[in-house]
Amino acid sequence: MKLNKSSFLAPTLSLAFLGLGFAGHTQTFLKKHPGINPYHYEVVKEASFAHGAVSSAHPLASMVGAAILKEGGNAFDAAIATQFSLAVVFPGAGNIGGGGFMLSRKANGDLMGIDYREAAPSKANRDMYLDDKGNPITKMSLDGASASGIPGSVAGMIATHAYAKLALSDLIEPAIEFAEFGYVITEKEANGLNSQKANFLKNSSAPSAFTKQQWKAGDTLYQPELAATLKRIQKNGLAGFYEGETADFIVKEMQHSGGIISKEDLKNYHPKFRKPIEFDYKGHHIISFSPPSSGGILIAQMLQMIAPYNVGSMGINTEASVGLMVEAQRRAYADRAEHMGDPDFWKVPTKTLISEGYAKERMKDYVPGVAGSSKITQAGQVHESEQTTHFSVIDAEGNMVAITTTLNDTYGNKTIVAGAGFLLNNEMDDFSVKPGSPNMYGAIGGEANSIQPGKRMLSSMTPTLVTLNGKPYISIGTPGGTTIPNQVFEGLVNIIDHKMSLKAAIDAPKFHHQWIPDMIGVESDFPDATIEALKAKGYNVTKRGRFGRMDGVQIMPDGKRTAAGDKRGDDSVAGY
Ligand code: DON
Repeated sequence: MKLNKSSFLAPTLSLAFLGLGFAGHTQTFLKKHPGINPYHYEVVKEASFAHGAVSSAHPLASMVGAAILKEGGNAFDAAIATQFSLAVVFPGAGNIGGGGFMLSRKANGDLMGIDYREAAPSKANRDMYLDDKGNPITKMSLDGASASGIPGSVAGMIATHAYAKLALSDLIEPAIEFAEFGYVITEKEANGLNSQKANFLKNSSAPSAFTKQQWKAGDTLYQPELAATLKRIQKNGLAGFYEGETADFIVKEMQHSGGIISKEDLKNYHPKFRKPIEFDYKGHHIISFSPPSSGGILIAQMLQMIAPYNVGSMGINTEASVGLMVEAQRRAYADRAEHMGDPDFWKVPTKTLISEGYAKERMKDYVPGVAGSSKITQAGQVHESEQTTHFSVIDAEGNMVAITTTLNDTYGNKTIVAGAGFLLNNEMDDFSVKPGSPNMYGAIGGEANSIQPGKRMLSSMTPTLVTLNGKPYISIGTPGGTTIPNQVFEGLVNIIDHKMSLKAAIDAPKFHHQWIPDMIGVESDFPDATIEALKAKGYNVTKRGRFGRMDGVQIMPDGKRTAAGDKRGDDSVAGY
């Protein structure tokens, strides 16, 4: 089944025709896989496959993941190859200069979370983004190298490789070939690159592949410097990125715009294993990411807060269901601001926050049909003893992987590392730069998420897995800043309570409340009747364009893997 197919085609009058890149690299992956044509590919929004499937933000990246599965790789192999490919074909968020979270469930039931979130450099300090009057200098945590945390993606993928079957070099090869031999860009990508050209030139020490020309759909983008960086990783593993030439390029780029990442910071970076969050919701077992992501805790809180209610009978996106779910969102996000941060620096009361009893307690003052207030709802008392990208893979054995990875903002801090050809993140803005001051997502926080050297900034990324009757069932997630946990929450309710297909659940209009500001943001196609009914109850409701790009794979009762890509982007599925 193929829906909304659209294709991208360009004349291929280039060296690529000869299978030769700038540095004389010969094609191996693309030669072996003539069906993956970087100059002519289609977006496939939904399809079912007998064995394994991938859903990601870009058709080429999904096709690479599927080819790796078909070649005998498992879900980990496919995920690694997909992440590296996204770093080339989806530069706004796919990355090697950012970080992310890898959540997996092996077919034997083993769960694993690899946290490859960026870390604050050793020279970072709590007040580094405040002026002498103590006010936040937002530009510094968003623009240029000063905004960068130490990148974690390469280390994260290498840690993931311990669970893969194929050679790491073969998993990086497709990305190298896309970078070296070029690929055709979509209209969305052309518009994105054009809109940021001035920022790229201002924030980077040198022009780059992205700033070479004014782009239009169908143009071929070559990234020779990025190809060279990927080759160093292919040859030298971790040291190909965190040491040597690549590290030199990164540290040199720091000087252009006040960055503080040092060679030691790069060398000392390591990913961390995190125990996933687990809980049950209406007969389903949900597995998601723990701090430094807030996502797993938030969806555990929100789903358990609404569990006593028959949400299905209320209907999707009605005043009754949205009112209930928004009141759960308000309460959970109030707790996010107060209680969540990097667990290695702050004691996050995870056990209490995700308990059924706490959810019940938090909803005690909920009155159906009555708008709550964030002035009254504060964080609970706990005592305990807009660019990112998500992709999902399920393989033939039933191994499931969900990865959400990011540069934070679209194209990160708009700084391309000269000589190395990749974008740096502006993840430092996810810290609470000043208690009570909103970050770019309007999220506020306090001491729990203050800046400290080596600390990881609180995230909303929510890669999530579901099992049903002990068997693998769904891998899902999305970008979208602080809207992420709410999108995953609503996506799961759409599937579990409203009995929607994965694709319909993903495409359905979403809403978002994050405690402060006290308002409901809704997507532009959200039903007007519900907006009016919510307003009549006293809610402040605002239309906010589109949220996120949710991708997922689901195992159907007949064992088929149905993959779905979000209507909101170029997201595309592949499998075999
Ligand atoms: O980790 C976080 O929560 C953010 N840096 C994610 C950013 C994001 O999703 C932007 N996407 N649209």
